[in-house]
Amino acid sequence: ASLSDPDGFWMDQTWRLDWARKPEHAFVSEGDSTRWFGSGSLNTCFNAVDRHVLAGRGEQAAIIFESPVTGSSRVISYAELLDEVERAAGALCDRGIESGDRVLIYMPMIPEALIAMLACARLGAIHSVVFGGFAPAELASRIVDAGPKVIVTASCGIEKNRVLPYLPMVRSALDLAGTEVRVLVVQRPEHEADLVADGEEDWTAAVSVAPRAGCADSSGDSPLYILYTSGTTARPKGVVRDTGGHAVALAWSMANFYGVASGDVFWAASDIGWVVGHSYIVYGPLIAGCTTVLFEGKPIGTPDAGVFFELIERHRVNVLFTAPTTIRAIRSADPSGALRSGRDLGSLRTLFMAGERLDTDTYAWAGEAFGCPVIDHWWQTETGWPIVGTAAGVPSQPVRPGSPGHPLPGWSVRVVDAHGEDVPPGVQGAVVLRLPLAPGGLLTLWGDDERFYRSYLADHPGNYLTGDGGYFDEDGYLFISGRIDDEINVAGHRLSTAAIEEVAARHPRVLECAVVGVPDETKGQVPHLFAVLSDPEVDSEARAILGEINAAVRTTISPIATVAGLTALVRLPKTRSGKILRGTIRSIAAGYDYEVPSTIEDPAALTELIEAFGPDQGPDEGF
Ligand code: COA
Ligand code: AMP
Repeated sequence: ASLSDPDGFWMDQTWRLDWARKPEHAFVSEGDSTRWFGSGSLNTCFNAVDRHVLAGRGEQAAIIFESPVTGSSRVISYAELLDEVERAAGALCDRGIESGDRVLIYMPMIPEALIAMLACARLGAIHSVVFGGFAPAELASRIVDAGPKVIVTASCGIEKNRVLPYLPMVRSALDLAGTEVRVLVVQRPEHEADLVADGEEDWTAAVSVAPRAGCADSSGDSPLYILYTSGTTARPKGVVRDTGGHAVALAWSMANFYGVASGDVFWAASDIGWVVGHSYIVYGPLIAGCTTVLFEGKPIGTPDAGVFFELIERHRVNVLFTAPTTIRAIRSADPSGALRSGRDLGSLRTLFMAGERLDTDTYAWAGEAFGCPVIDHWWQTETGWPIVGTAAGVPSQPVRPGSPGHPLPGWSVRVVDAHGEDVPPGVQGAVVLRLPLAPGGLLTLWGDDERFYRSYLADHPGNYLTGDGGYFDEDGYLFISGRIDDEINVAGHRLSTAAIEEVAARHPRVLECAVVGVPDETKGQVPHLFAVLSDPEVDSEARAILGEINAAVRTTISPIATVAGLTALVRLPKTRSGKILRGTIRSIAAGYDYEVPSTIEDPAALTELIEAFGPDQGPDEGF
């Protein structure tokens, strides 16, 4: 029904939200562009907060904040959340923020981050949350692109046992961006920042004297947020999310896919800097009236691999959503599950996993350890919510390990060849989505409709290119084999290899290079550098060179992009026209079958690469 009558199907779901003006129809398509619920208006913050208080559920916990890295925890009821969000919105309003203005949020995983996001939504302002692990240059490029009027940050984050001051990074990013923006700083006791520069203000002081702000009416098709994700170039893509389609899709998914209702405890163990955090730490659970768990810590080491089990038991968590890397990390730290034994996980109904491929081994271990059904599901920043999965309430579609399942409502999923023709079951191809996208799918890329078109729509007219490869089996289960472009997925974090290459190429000894993802036991994939060095005889220096490159990668992009290994080559495999054969390098490095391209300049370059990297040489054996 969602594909044959999308208007009827999604209009039937609008009852899940409170609208200031009810929409008359679900969507309007003009060419390749689709706008959802533009004839209606609503406020996402009202739907996520106010309406639950008005319905008499003000005392229910909205957020459970657990921070093993600071030894603190806090429960915030819906009534308290409303109070804080109203005043935060008032503080932003006092600083001139109006509907359509951008507010950049660069925060660790603390409640104020969610409060700032909701405060923006309340005013109809557009937030752009930047993952706290990104270095100043990445932050600067987002500041330049989004043009925020205000930045909300914190005095520090805590990463493992390190206190990371944020304000110096914000100052440095503003310098790089060559702009001045007012900065509101949440002071944390672990490290208080000196607010000395012009425009720097204490968040708590600003909020405590602010008037309460009401909810703006936002038209259904107006932007709610921009979230930057990696592109195939070093420049990130600003995915623009709408208001109405997003709210309807999330509300549908909470009830029908994740199988939760108001009062349930939902824990998405991700970061607010990623789409999983936006959709399923903040907006999805709050729109559904659930209690959301906000976790500032790691699955292992804070304090140990038992922390997930302990928190599930203590807070009677009903649904956990995490990345396979988390499970692999817990498993390798505690293979026998000793830290799980004695814990009552009876509240846990389902464990959902996404962000990267779920291997069958991890799937099986997770089911045993958590004692509940495990559901893989596949989606991406651009879609905002799951494309393919197995709905918790549909037992007629049993899980098939290795596959995330079947397409969900609204998504017309195809696997096509290079000419855009559907391939038969069992045959690999590019996974595309027939237009229109389901509600919640990206509107465009911020300020760059042309790049939106080029990146997603140009290759297969009438379809959206997901960037993933895969195949359907005979029974319609989709299998995702991985990215077919120059993006990689490291511990569930999507990174651009082009951005890493750009940093590596600046090293004086690197003449040319290619970065690809290679398999890693815990993180799924890690970046590996193939490089032609200026003095190839001096092999022993490669380790030092990699160290220098990594120092630059960590301070220019992020420590999460650290390169795991370097293979020095005399030449890189190229086409006769001089293009590096990245796809072929990628396949060889991943251990996949590959064909020698007919356009190759010198087949001996491939032989050299295979010998240097070696079929048995995983990243651990690299330099
Ligand atoms: N701020 C600053 N630095 C950060 C950071 C942040 N928010 N997040 C990660 N880093 C740093 C880490 O401290 C680490 O630094 P180090 O090399 O100096 O130790 C580096 O970036 C790499 O981090 P990470 O990829 O997280 O590896 P790890 O070895 O520290 O931890 C895991 C391994 C498995 C515990 C961790 O990757 C994890 O929790 N993965 C799950 C991620 C996830 O949930 N993704 C889902 C997104 S939907
Ligand atoms: P992101 O936009 O950061 O959420 O990353 C999206 C990408 O992660 C997708 O395009 C896939 O490459 C990968 N991904 C997400 N979920 C899955 C999954 N369940 N199985 C395989 N790959 C996944």
